[in-house]
Amino acid sequence: MAESPNLTPDEQASLIAQLQGEATALRNELEETNQGVLALYAELDEQAEQLRQASDLKSRFLSYMSHEFRTPLGSILSITGLLTDELDGPLSPEQHKQVAFVSGAARELSDMVDDLLDLAKIEAGRISISPAWFDMLDLFAALRGMFRPIVDGSAVDLIFEEPVGLPRLFTDDKKLAQILRKFISNSLKFTTRGEVRVSARLENSDHVRFAVSDTGIGIAPELHGALFEDFSQVDSPLQKRLRGTGLGLSLCKRFAELLGGEVGVQSTPGAGSTFFVIIPLAIAVEPADET
Ligand SMILES: Nc1ncnc2c1ncn2[C@@H]1O[C@H](COP(=O)(O)OP(=O)(O)OP(=O)(O)O)[C@@H](O)[C@H]1O
Ligand SMILES: [Mg+2]
Repeated sequence: MAESPNLTPDEQASLIAQLQGEATALRNELEETNQGVLALYAELDEQAEQLRQASDLKSRFLSYMSHEFRTPLGSILSITGLLTDELDGPLSPEQHKQVAFVSGAARELSDMVDDLLDLAKIEAGRISISPAWFDMLDLFAALRGMFRPIVDGSAVDLIFEEPVGLPRLFTDDKKLAQILRKFISNSLKFTTRGEVRVSARLENSDHVRFAVSDTGIGIAPELHGALFEDFSQVDSPLQKRLRGTGLGLSLCKRFAELLGGEVGVQSTPGAGSTFFVIIPLAIAVEPADET
């Protein structure tokens, strides 16, 4: 006001009224914007709630469906087992081939159902970690036994490197084994000759790095980012022949996160791939509730 000493009292009053009018208009405008923002927030909240419900429904659907599929698949597998063992009389070579085909397909379906069930459990936050002390040598021995029937007589060698200088681990060995099993079966699937090599070494003082390296078809660098997402598969002639669901690596990523670690890949098309998982030597567990 010191700047306008020449204004008459009337002019001053009208200026003040004008300024007050402008301030009121501005306040009203702000008020409206504020209400608009609040309405948008409410809408967002509602949409988030709907998304949560949809995701919940999807998880529940997946787990019910997987449960329903398990029983009949179990029967198919045990009956094909009885037939192959010829408990009810001999089979011709052609019948053996047909039964093997049925049981192979049932096993594939059963693996897929297990993956879907795991996924649903993780999404619903219902998968639990049961850590225990164990030795890497036992884990490698179990994996070697599991894959022996598959690699025997194949053109691909499956090599487990002796883990040197590794202490015992305190983590969920079943989850870790599942990650490695999925890495190894992918490597065997996408490698027609050469080797698949499984190794373990200390990454730093409190983390261990497991790697599965192969001399297979490899993966173009621009695809590496999406590999660990649900249902992500790379188009290749091998892929068409071998199917699969594209859930394996996404489960590996989630299992690794449950174990407090992470997964990754290095790969060159035509040369081979290395998939790895880095986890803490000892998983941090919530202190037991003593009440
Ligand atoms: N060792 C590998 N070499 C080359 N490509 C690979 C390798 N591992 C994975 N991939 C590519 O990544 C894709 C995703 O792998 P993922 O294990 O998630 O699915 P999948 O093996 O196709 O099916 P599923 O594991 O569900 O049976 C594969 O389809 C393949 O294209
Ligand atoms: Mg796979």
